[in-house]
Amino acid sequence: MAKLWGGRFQKNTDKKVDDFNSSIRFDKRMYRQDIKGSKAHAQMLGKQGIIPKEDADKIIKGLDEILSEIENGKVEFLIDAEDIHMNVEKLLTDKIGDAGKRLHTGRSRNDQVALDLRMYLLDEGVEIKEMLVHLLDVLLSLADEHTDTVMPGYTHLQKAQPITLAHHLMAYFEMFKRDLARLSDWRGRCNYMPLGSGALAGTTYPLDREFVAEKLGFACVTGNSLDGVSDRDFAIELASVLSMIMMHLSRFCEELILWSSHEFQFVEMDDSYSTGSSIMPQKKNPDVAELIRGKTGRVYGHLMGLLTTMKGIPLAYNKDMQEDKEPIFDAVDTVKLCLPVFCDMIATMTVRKDNMLSGARGGFTNATDAADYLVKKGMPFREAHAVVGKLVFYAISKDKALDELTLDEYKQFSDIIEQDIYDAISMQTCVNDRKIIGGPAEETVKAAIKAGREFVNSIE
Ligand code: ARG
Repeated sequence: MAKLWGGRFQKNTDKKVDDFNSSIRFDKRMYRQDIKGSKAHAQMLGKQGIIPKEDADKIIKGLDEILSEIENGKVEFLIDAEDIHMNVEKLLTDKIGDAGKRLHTGRSRNDQVALDLRMYLLDEGVEIKEMLVHLLDVLLSLADEHTDTVMPGYTHLQKAQPITLAHHLMAYFEMFKRDLARLSDWRGRCNYMPLGSGALAGTTYPLDREFVAEKLGFACVTGNSLDGVSDRDFAIELASVLSMIMMHLSRFCEELILWSSHEFQFVEMDDSYSTGSSIMPQKKNPDVAELIRGKTGRVYGHLMGLLTTMKGIPLAYNKDMQEDKEPIFDAVDTVKLCLPVFCDMIATMTVRKDNMLSGARGGFTNATDAADYLVKKGMPFREAHAVVGKLVFYAISKDKALDELTLDEYKQFSDIIEQDIYDAISMQTCVNDRKIIGGPAEETVKAAIKAGREFVNSIE
């Protein structure tokens, strides 16, 4: 096949080079954006009198037909036509003849690919945003059911202080809310229209860049033609936002994996979200959570890959940059695969409230509150810490929890301890007296859930 750029060449490219050079295998997924961008460009060329108005109309009509042909599976893309941009242009010229040859006036594939990729990622960003909002919604509903489900909070994976499941879930709400904010910040920086940058040095044609930007829904146009075609920071930044989402999902998955183990038994995944073992009949494995944790590695890998691809490229465009697509596409696909599965997995799991409560009762999670009890009776905190430390040591030797010690036993450690110690160190008191903003008390978490709902409802 004759190349669109073949004029200067005496020989055809080697078949191996065609295969090697071609990106159609993976960039064909940008066909919608490519066609939309070309239509806007053609309309602008016609409006500016750079090409005849009738040709612009023919181009737009031809592109519309090509779009529906692609969507109906009638188009076979050609490796020889290299990439989605030249495939579409070839389809157009085959279809409408000479008018099609005018489409690329004042444009280079360098600004075209920069445009298409930005548009593609902005479109995907909308879907990821919706999935994140759904996750926030699922977290709020689940939290709402568990504002009085007491469970142990951990530090160093050692039981630390009692909290509630709702409080724990709302911690993730905060994290995913920030991920959403990061996605929205990224959108602001990606939302620049690069057409008009040409190959690198702009163009002498009187293009109306602002018109094209507005037509395509961009907030503004890029401010430097070299930068417009040669940075991929918008893809890298998205990969970083996606990595953060995966990191949060993965931590949560790690907890769910632990919590479903026989040692914890805090949750049980629904049968529809678990798998068995081919040899061990008793097994019910949290594969879905494990796979999400595993897929986190590949998204991080894509972030590193993109950063490394870009780090040594002199301005402006270099072919290295064709390597931006597979990693960012896969990072996007992976997050879009994980988010809905994760939402359904947590929405369908069974929470073992009783095991969470007994987990909170064991392990002296109320020791801080016992010390605070002494402080409220006038003892300096450091002294109270030491008294309770000795109490814990004693209780361990008797194989008792703090609230199982008798008042006589307490009195051996401090005579200011009275009957009211039992109420002061009950799980309910430990949780519900922590009414401080951000704390686990039932009323505080209910207020946080209410604020969370208002936030979710305010998202446009
Ligand atoms: N397929 C190319 C890419 O993905 C399009 C841009 C090609 N430009 C060029 N000057 N060879 O980067």
